[in-house]
Amino acid sequence: MSEIYEPHNIIVTGGCGFIGSNFVHYVVNNHPGVHVTVLDKLTYAGNPDNIAGLPSDRVELVVGDICDTDLLNKLVPGHDAIIHYAAESHNDNSIADPRPFLKTNVEGTFCLLEAVRKYGIRYHHVSTDEVYGDLALDDPAKFTESTPYKPSSPYSSTKAASDMLVRAWTRTYGLRTTISNCSNNYGPYQHVEKFIPRQITNIIDGVRPKLYGTGENVRDWIHTEDHSSAVWTILTRGHIGETYLIGADGEKNNITVLRMILEMMGQSPDDFDWVRDRPGHDRRYAIDSTKLQTQLGWRPTHTNFAEGLEKTIEWYRNNESWWRPVKVATEARYKAQGQ
Ligand code: NAD
Ligand code: DAU
Repeated sequence: MSEIYEPHNIIVTGGCGFIGSNFVHYVVNNHPGVHVTVLDKLTYAGNPDNIAGLPSDRVELVVGDICDTDLLNKLVPGHDAIIHYAAESHNDNSIADPRPFLKTNVEGTFCLLEAVRKYGIRYHHVSTDEVYGDLALDDPAKFTESTPYKPSSPYSSTKAASDMLVRAWTRTYGLRTTISNCSNNYGPYQHVEKFIPRQITNIIDGVRPKLYGTGENVRDWIHTEDHSSAVWTILTRGHIGETYLIGADGEKNNITVLRMILEMMGQSPDDFDWVRDRPGHDRRYAIDSTKLQTQLGWRPTHTNFAEGLEKTIEWYRNNESWWRPVKVATEARYKAQGQ
């Protein structure tokens, strides 16, 4: 086990998005000595309500762009670490319009790395398993830290590029960084453009869920709170310059997940529409998290997917005012794409 690093004053980029806000809640609930500055541009995916109600002496929101170097020069001094979640995160959007993905995911990461270089603070880079491309449905292999990069979509290629920047800045300038690549998250505060919340909120609205292609594509689901505990473990115990894969052995194909949601919400398991497939749709993701578990002692706790899914459905039922304002525009975008 490596030495334990104790941050006190951290910047969380993208802390008003789905996974970033869950991480802010996790830190506030589990690490009382830590102050969090959230840096978030509040794009369509960012919602300040995600962190509303957290104690104001523990969490501060700064609305701004990670590409704004002047802002970073004002904000970064005095902080010990940046945990970088901010991104354009949705594959379908990246296929429709890749440009914002290049700007935020690549240039934004570059701006943060330059600030980290200037002020000498720690940096944890939150990335995705999609950088490894996909696995065949019948392949027994899983992704490991040594799987070659082979991203398929505009989104995943920009995440792969950002990982490469982190590695190059670490080697060349000696930055103190770590990287994590996680599988598909689910849980509260996820935007209704994503698979699970889209289907739950469609059913609440009396609209038939939409399944891409054959529905056989496999995703490796992890509860977002387990992602948060893993990132905290890597930040505080991880070895500088190392990459850790985060996953919780949650492989399921899309049609199975959709039928679980339908049954849990009292619908017939065949009550959905098949729609146009995503171009370049990755077949299967699967994470081998042995390194994180054996070297850093991390374990997931939300290992019962059905239970986590029930609670997630409950959350969307109880928080309609949170998702309702963005539902119509999201579905209009999908309709225009034939999905
Ligand atoms: P999200 O789209 O829900 O949230 C992204 C947040 O970043 C939003 O609050 C948005 O306002 C903010 N943001 C976007 N551009 C910004 C900019 N230029 N400056 C400042 N803030 C900006 O995304 P998410 O699903 O929570 O993903 C968060 C991170 O986790 C991303 O880096 C993503 O690649 C990674 N990740 C996601 C998953 C997943 O299953 N969703 C899995 C593995 C890794
Ligand atoms: O693997 C990690 C990645 O997981 C993250 O890096 C991304 O930020 C995150 O969005 C997610 O990417 P996916 O493309 O896997 O997630 P999405 O929720 O868009 O889709 C999950 C699966 O469901 C995928 O196979 C496409 C399918 N799908 C999606 C939607 C929105 C459908 O069948 N119907 C739908 O309506």
